[in-house]
Amino acid sequence: MGRRRLRALFYGLIFCGVTFYCCFLGFLLVKIRELKHKNTATSFNFIDTTKETWRHRGVTSNNHGCNKVSNNPYGLLNLFTTISLKPLWQNVSFCDKTYVFSAFYHSEDLISIITTTTRKSLLDRNVQYQCRFFNELSPNALITCNETIVKRKAMPENRGKRYSAAFYTCPLPKSTRPYAVSLSTDHCKSPSNILPIVYPQQQQRKFTVCVSPLNYRYSKAYELVEMIEFNRILGADYFVFYNYSTDSNVDRVLEYYKEQGLVEVLKWNLPMKVDTWPKKKEPVEIHYFAQLAALNDCLYRNMYLSKYVVFQDLDEFIIPKKHLTWSDMMEALPKGSGAYIFRCFFFRKEWPDTTKNFEGKDKAQKYKMNTLLKQKRESKVLGKSHRSKYIVDPKQIDTVGIHNIWRYRSGTKAHFVDPEFARMHHYRDWLNPNDANTGVEDNRTMVYRNELLQNTVHAWEMLKDVPLGPISHTDS
Ligand SMILES: *[C@@H]1O[C@H](CO)[C@@H](O)[C@H](O)[C@H]1NC(C)=O
Ligand SMILES: *[C@@H]1O[C@H](CO)[C@@H](O)[C@H](O)[C@H]1NC(C)=O
Ligand SMILES: *[C@@H]1O[C@H](CO)[C@@H](O)[C@H](O)[C@H]1NC(C)=O
Ligand SMILES: *[C@@H]1O[C@H](CO)[C@@H](O)[C@H](O)[C@H]1NC(C)=O
Repeated sequence: MGRRRLRALFYGLIFCGVTFYCCFLGFLLVKIRELKHKNTATSFNFIDTTKETWRHRGVTSNNHGCNKVSNNPYGLLNLFTTISLKPLWQNVSFCDKTYVFSAFYHSEDLISIITTTTRKSLLDRNVQYQCRFFNELSPNALITCNETIVKRKAMPENRGKRYSAAFYTCPLPKSTRPYAVSLSTDHCKSPSNILPIVYPQQQQRKFTVCVSPLNYRYSKAYELVEMIEFNRILGADYFVFYNYSTDSNVDRVLEYYKEQGLVEVLKWNLPMKVDTWPKKKEPVEIHYFAQLAALNDCLYRNMYLSKYVVFQDLDEFIIPKKHLTWSDMMEALPKGSGAYIFRCFFFRKEWPDTTKNFEGKDKAQKYKMNTLLKQKRESKVLGKSHRSKYIVDPKQIDTVGIHNIWRYRSGTKAHFVDPEFARMHHYRDWLNPNDANTGVEDNRTMVYRNELLQNTVHAWEMLKDVPLGPISHTDS
């Protein structure tokens, strides 16, 4: 081997060594930077970022590399000045398909946020959420942010739709009672939503009724009046409605009861594609107007305000058989259970009105009072949890479903109420000629007849020029 060759080999080796060294050094530097970055990100806990935030307000940059001005319903620049304290669906960020509605104190160290989100996003561990807390409703309020990853828990019964209702829970900073919370995806900067936290309040009511979202431009004013008046007699103190869409006659009825302090209507401005009537070709993105989100919002909203919360729809009535009122009925049921489940009995609306005459029948017909006129029910008795409805002691419940309780907080169990003691009447159209179900006479509601007629006639006197409905629409 010549000298020249040896020299070339020597320089070659040195070159390789230096290159390798440089590469290694570069790699190390990158790693160190990454580590440093991680540290600053996780040590973001709980510092006053007020100034930062207000300078950056309006720009959202999340870890999708997405930079856009967020457009929450209040307008970002005056998130606090124009905020309506009424709950509304708000964006979490411009790029993330997660929406928030309300935040509740869950326990000493936990806040529960009611959300709807795509099932895909729910499983995406690359997107991380933070809760940031505000001590008062002002841009100058001390802002605290805990980067601890928010826990996400889908609510059941999403029926394979693109979106699901979910609970997002985040740790409540120790021994604090923040006024409001924001959910964000960008390391505690630029919140695009703000949710006043609902804390435990003193009990004010005995029975609060939670109703699934009003939709399809709901216009059966006659049904709504009968529902409120009948439940009032049974013992309801208050009704909570979620409004996706109503017609003006129903608005008048709701306004009338609102003035009497009996009704609360929450705007339910769902941002995704929902059911329409008539049906459209486009796929519906969430099961029945996010019913699960509404029911659970109602549970948490009334957890401390009401001794019991009653879940039933507009055409459903929990009717005691041995007592007249819910109060007496609950007294007689075994104590301590978190939920009392009532079996469903179908009363068919397409079957003719009772042929029996009774005083005030003309009025019942005038105001289309199904509970008095339809005195025939299907002979078939449905199973324990099949289409049933329930009354809960809300403090013992974590998650409710459409016909049953999904999760309890306490170690309690459901009490299935004997149908000979009380049952749920469901007034429905069934129009199925192949169904050979025969009818059975059932006049239990007649014991409420006098009071129900008197109160309903009075309500309609007050609502004289309001159309009873239904009003037909070509689109809704
Ligand atoms: C959320 O942002 C989207 C744009 O991504 C916008 O179309 C929608 O109106 C916003 N929804 C709400 C409730 O602010
Ligand atoms: C942030 O949350 C974690 C988890 O609950 C908690 O351990 C930590 O103390 C919280 N940080 C602050 C500053 O509250
Ligand atoms: C319910 O929402 C619809 C649609 O936004 C609105 O037109 C109606 O006035 C609302 N009704 C009540 C009682 O809030
Ligand atoms: C219900 O019907 C039964 C027998 O059919 C009758 O004896 C009873 O008086 C009715 N009850 C009421 C409240 O009308």
